[in-house]
Amino acid sequence: MKLEKLILKNYRNYKDFEYSFLKNKTLIIGKNAQGKTNILEAVYYLCTLDSNRIKRDLELINFESDTAKIQAEILKSDINLELEINFSRDKNKVLKVNGLKKNKSKEFLRVLSAVSFSTSDLLLLRGDPSDRRKWLDLAIFQVYPLYYDKLSKFNKIRLQKANYLSSGNINSDMLDVFNEQLAIASANVVFLRMKYLKELEKIAKIKHLNMASGENLSIKYISSTEEILAIDEMKNLILNKLNEIKNDEIRRMQCLIGAHRDDVDFFINGVDSKKYASQGQQRTIVLALKLAELEILKEKNNQAPLLLLDDVLAELDSNRQNYLLATIENDIQMIITSVDTLAFDDEFLKSVDIIKIASGKLIS
Ligand SMILES: Nc1ncnc2c1ncn2[C@@H]1O[C@H](COP(=O)(O)OP(=O)(O)O)[C@@H](O)[C@H]1O
Ligand SMILES: [Mg+2]
Repeated sequence: MKLEKLILKNYRNYKDFEYSFLKNKTLIIGKNAQGKTNILEAVYYLCTLDSNRIKRDLELINFESDTAKIQAEILKSDINLELEINFSRDKNKVLKVNGLKKNKSKEFLRVLSAVSFSTSDLLLLRGDPSDRRKWLDLAIFQVYPLYYDKLSKFNKIRLQKANYLSSGNINSDMLDVFNEQLAIASANVVFLRMKYLKELEKIAKIKHLNMASGENLSIKYISSTEEILAIDEMKNLILNKLNEIKNDEIRRMQCLIGAHRDDVDFFINGVDSKKYASQGQQRTIVLALKLAELEILKEKNNQAPLLLLDDVLAELDSNRQNYLLATIENDIQMIITSVDTLAFDDEFLKSVDIIKIASGKLIS
């Protein structure tokens, strides 16, 4: 899979940006706050229809504009494809594949895939549960495109229930109706999160052992249901829990359990890595997770996804940097950002296409 061209119009600080990728590896150089991450974010948005830096799509539209556009030309199994997303301040975004409007997000999500690895991912274990949920959700959108709608549905019901609870005027039967809907929506989300994490754990374990021998990684999804069951059974378990805490929720006027409160735990040889692993050990875990994400996408699509490395290569020590670059096959397309070229050796620099940006513009 190859991203051949990217066009941005009024996206973040890019008024008018167009670039054709010449080589398999592109290195984007620029000072802080010039728009390096914005480019990777736009590419990742094409893959996931979301970004871990936003709450709402509106944030992507240039401050001085009412609309924005991301457009891309892609070569996939010798077929040329064009993706286009139009954002506007007062309407829902419009998705197009080869010029044809797509109402179902899953049709769009199937086209381009990428793994994104940034310095903020290195803090995944130190971060908030919401960071870990967002990481997981973005990864799953690409593997199970139906998940995007399932998660949207869950969020919609959760918001409705939250609004109802905060109104303070609660009818018990009405709350039962919300809980029934929320339990189904939550079970759908939790099921796919657990299923994906199981696949991820299997591969990440091996990658992790390769980097840290004797250190056995395991991953656990923390939720009101302990293990992966049929969706019906999961729904019933969630509903039972919701019934148990019904009065608490009324008193505190909040949705206290559900997919929006879940988390992911990581263990090395059974020890909780969020609490006890060193910074280096945590980085090894994240690197193993990213390489596992890549492998899952590759298997699923029968071709390698893109790899987006945001500032992260310079942050990794040479052992981890070498492991990463050695593990990744040469045919995989990489887009890498960095403030300068200091962290890279000459051979690497010769093999990449270097572009420079400043204030949302290409400068060479
Ligand atoms: N919606 C927006 N409209 C205009 N500029 C934006 C918008 N969102 C972010 N920016 C600008 O983008 C820049 C940050 O871009 P980013 O890609 O994160 O930089 P970096 O090169 O450090 O990765 C900042 O100057 C910020 O003001
Ligand atoms: Mg950045």
